Amino acid sequence: MSDPTETLRAALPPLAQSRLQSLRLADGRAIVVLDAGGLDAAGRAQIEAEVKEALAGQPGVSEVRVALMADKPRRTIIAVGSGKGGVGKSTVSANLAIALSRQGRKVGLVDADIYGPSQPRLLGSEGIKPQARGDKLVPVPNQWGVPLLSMGQLIEPGKAIAWRGPMAGNALGQLVDAEWGETQVLIVDLPPGTGDVQLTMLQRHKPAGAVIVSTPQDLALIDARRAVQLFEVGQVPVIGMVENMAGYQCPHCGELSDPFGQGGAEAAAAEMGMDFLGRVPLQLAIRQASDAGTPPAAGDGPEGEAFAAIARRVGIWLDNRK
Ligand SMILES: Nc1ncnc2c1ncn2[C@@H]1O[C@H](COP(=O)(O)OP(=O)(O)OP(=O)(O)O)[C@@H](O)[C@H]1O
Ligand SMILES: [Mg+2]
Repeated sequence: MSDPTETLRAALPPLAQSRLQSLRLADGRAIVVLDAGGLDAAGRAQIEAEVKEALAGQPGVSEVRVALMADKPRRTIIAVGSGKGGVGKSTVSANLAIALSRQGRKVGLVDADIYGPSQPRLLGSEGIKPQARGDKLVPVPNQWGVPLLSMGQLIEPGKAIAWRGPMAGNALGQLVDAEWGETQVLIVDLPPGTGDVQLTMLQRHKPAGAVIVSTPQDLALIDARRAVQLFEVGQVPVIGMVENMAGYQCPHCGELSDPFGQGGAEAAAAEMGMDFLGRVPLQLAIRQASDAGTPPAAGDGPEGEAFAAIARRVGIWLDNRK
């Protein structure tokens, strides 16, 4: 026999479904708990009336009670983007999340790069699949204290996925609207460019701010400007820019060289009136630690400090936006 509350869930209007926290049926009484965060009095009255109307006629229901959980602190979403691929968005996302967590915040990570997910490998949790609670995914915990949801956890490793836009958008929704519990800050690692996933992210999930990653290379900076434009159009404030792969330190002799030049991103950030969040050097140790699933930000070496400094700036931004 099917669960009667499943039938009731299905009967709810879409807005109520998306805000549903719990639904119970006991002695003919349906108790529906909804997240009413951000709704005004009229909106609250309307959603309550719609739920009552939708459930009143259902079999086994003699009474409907609606509890509206007001002002549930909404999670702050920070999107990490770049115009160009391979500049280190995923590396910065993972390490920024871990550094923020080490600074005492409750942080979660969403790998929105559904065509080429990399976070399960970066966090050393490849092959672990998230459980579902009700119709929501439960983020996968790890030793770094940053629960993760990634399409990489839902598909077989190495299997390429070529989804059309709407499917990709729905998949993203499942990752963002998951059981994030106490998570205060959700870092979202975006795919490169300005495609469907990015637009869905901006339109449906409205990040509070965006971090732009760029290499010092001129070409990448032109692309970074494109990413900035995307967020401007979506009315998402840009928190600032991270310059990645800035300067190369030879692992043997320690000599510093600048294959792409240095300071280009900082100058470009200033020119665009954007804050500069920090610089991460191009280091073999960063790539090796990343590939090994032991994120550099979890350690106390100089690489860890570079990410900690970026996280402190993002932390200041978070504290000042209330
Ligand atoms: N500062 C760095 N020093 C050394 N290697 C780095 C650094 N940043 C990133 N890398 C390496 O560069 C490669 C690309 O980085 P990453 O996957 O983070 O980029 P991305 O922008 O997310 O790429 P994509 O556009 O494909 O999603 C990875 O192998 C990563 O380990
Ligand atoms: Mg990536």
